[in-house]
Amino acid sequence: MRSKALVIGMLGATVLCSWALAQQEGAHHGHHASSETRAAAAVPKAKPSSREVVSVNRDEYDHVLGDMNQMLATLGQINQALSQQDMATVRKLADALRPQHTMQSQDPASVSFHAKLPSRWREFGRPMHQGFARMADQAARPDVTVAQIQALMAQTTQYCVACHSTYRLHLNP
Ligand code: HEC
Repeated sequence: MRSKALVIGMLGATVLCSWALAQQEGAHHGHHASSETRAAAAVPKAKPSSREVVSVNRDEYDHVLGDMNQMLATLGQINQALSQQDMATVRKLADALRPQHTMQSQDPASVSFHAKLPSRWREFGRPMHQGFARMADQAARPDVTVAQIQALMAQTTQYCVACHSTYRLHLNP
């Protein structure tokens, strides 16, 4: 429980760092970050105990949290690649999280999990995956800047935060 809180905290810190960096880059270039970018730091948080519970079996639990940890690792890797201005790697990492690469998984745990999802789950998941698709598209442009990818990162990670403040999983062994 504590390590999960730590991970979520780290995620929040990632969001804030992306936001702060985007602001800094924006200042360097003499323009302000967009209002969406600024909003990234201000997502309201529901009390964890009031989040809607999604009941899952062990396979579904492992599947979902496996995906979650993979996404957190990807955020770190994208930030690493950005710090080296390595847009080819940014593109490859973000591309793997496009909607069509993740939302049609035929893994049995994924299929059974998606069959029982609350309808609003996709309202967070879909735009998040679309955010990664935009990052991959932008990273492919020859004139792309680090600040542009960071701004997309800040917008996209808002959906991580919003979904985390809406749902929690309950493991039914
Ligand atoms: C559509 C909903 C949704 C989205 C979008 C989402 N998550 Fe999650 N995530 C969850 C839920 C639900 C949990 C389980 C929380 C709980 O039960 O307390 C979770 C848990 C996690 C965990 C903890 C994993 C563990 O092993 O305990 C990490 C890390 C995580 N998410 C990362 C992310 C990142 C990074 C993103 C965005 C790039 C993201 N998530 C987007 C729903 C979501």
